[in-house]
Amino acid sequence: MSEEKKPETPPQAAAPQAADLPVIDCRNVTKIFKDERSGREFTALQDVSFVIEDIPNTGEFITILGPSGCGKSTLLNTIAGLEPHFPPTRGVVLMKDQPIAGPGPERGMVFQTYSSFPCYTILENVAFGLKLKGVPEKEREDIAAEWIKKVKLSGCEKKYPRELSGGMRQRVALARTLAVKPRVILMDEPFGALDRITRWDMQDLLIELWSEVAATVFLVTHDIPEAVFLGDRVFIMGANPGRLLEIVKLPRPTEKAAEMQRTAKFSEIVNEISRKVEHIR
Ligand SMILES: Nc1ncnc2c1ncn2[C@@H]1O[C@H](COP(=O)(O)OP(=O)(O)O)[C@@H](O)[C@H]1O
Ligand SMILES: [Mg+2]
Repeated sequence: MSEEKKPETPPQAAAPQAADLPVIDCRNVTKIFKDERSGREFTALQDVSFVIEDIPNTGEFITILGPSGCGKSTLLNTIAGLEPHFPPTRGVVLMKDQPIAGPGPERGMVFQTYSSFPCYTILENVAFGLKLKGVPEKEREDIAAEWIKKVKLSGCEKKYPRELSGGMRQRVALARTLAVKPRVILMDEPFGALDRITRWDMQDLLIELWSEVAATVFLVTHDIPEAVFLGDRVFIMGANPGRLLEIVKLPRPTEKAAEMQRTAKFSEIVNEISRKVEHIR
């Protein structure tokens, strides 16, 4: 490592810039659901706190692991501002110091099951978020076509979702979300319904596109190798009540998913994380 030269005069203390503020600051978020009929209460999230710093031009990839019912979707939907998980019963999520008040185009969501409009073409589906943002027709069609190309679906612009395979549909969902250039991307088990090979392809595609958009990604998965491959940090959650137990820092992928996930070093990390996750079940 090279040693940096010290400046002769210390730089003036700069006023806090937007880049200095955390992208997401989740402060003591608790979510209690109350069953109207029985009156019973259930704590889906308890006192969840973490900070995602703004790393300019890079972003951060957070993967979330934990047993079923530990509040992974509740946490994602709280950041997305989606009811009934939002608003939290206690605590607050700040984005760049502003409390999240509901859904917004700066936070894009990708769900497990394909959620596009069946009677819209692929081009119309990918352009949909841009239309909501008020982007003029020609411009949004150009941007949508560019993203369709980036997710390697050129030629499918005029097709309908039913004409595509599950993997291709998730590529459309990815293109639609990324086309709007959200600062935060929330993905709830996006590749959960795909076979292993298609999943690896999607992981590679996601890493490729993510380096281009430099967003903060939160991705929920049940697949420990997927969490280890994609994550800069893995959040390990526990259930009853849902809470954040541990954050593990990981290296960035250096190879394609299929190659990297076969290496001994990778398996070692997966085993280590598996032991932690199994321990909390
Ligand atoms: N709308 C709701 N009303 C009542 N309980 C809910 C609601 N949504 C989720 N829950 C409960 O909160 C807990 C966490 O749910 P969820 O966030 O979906 O878990 P995960 O995604 O980790 O499987 C679960 O026990 C679930 O039953
Ligand atoms: Mg869930």
